[in-house]
Amino acid sequence: MVLGLGLMATAGVGCRRYPPPVPLEQLNAQQAAGKMAFNAHCAQCHYERVDQPKNGPSLTSLFKKPALHSGAAATDERVTSTIVNGHGLMPAMGAQVDDQEIQDLLAYLHTV
Ligand code: HEC
Repeated sequence: MVLGLGLMATAGVGCRRYPPPVPLEQLNAQQAAGKMAFNAHCAQCHYERVDQPKNGPSLTSLFKKPALHSGAAATDERVTSTIVNGHGLMPAMGAQVDDQEIQDLLAYLHTV
C-alpha cells in the first residue's frame, strides 16, 4: 500500500516541467554576453527560451534535463565539444566562436 503510493508519486515527478529560464533582466554580465553570442551564432537554428524545434532542437532546460537531444550527458564538456566540432547536422563552429564566447555561452545556457 505504502509502496504503491510511492510509485504513484514517483510517476508524477516525471511529468514535472523544468523551471523556466531566468528572466533576461536578471542575467549577470557574463550571462548577458552569452545571450549576445547566442543571438549571433546559435539563434538562427535553436530556440533557447521556448520548447520548440527550429533548424535544430530547442536548447531550453539544456542543463536541467538528464541528457542532451542525442542522449549524451548534458555537461559543459559535451556542449563545448558540440559547439567546436559540430554534431550530426549541426556544423562545427570552432572557427567562429572563441574560448571567451564559449564560456559566456555556457554561462547563459545554464540559465535557460
Ligand atoms: C546551422 C544550424 C545550427 C547552428 C548555427 C547551431 N546549431 Fe546546434 N544543432 C543543430 C542541429 C541540426 C542539431 C541536432 C544535431 C543532431 O543530433 O543531428 C544541433 C544540436 C545541438 C546540441 C545538442 C547536441 C546533442 O548531443 O544532442 C547543442 C547543445 C547545440 N546544438 C548547441 C548549439 C549552440 C550553443 C550553438 C551556437 C554556438 C549552435 N548549437 C548552433 C543546428 C545548429
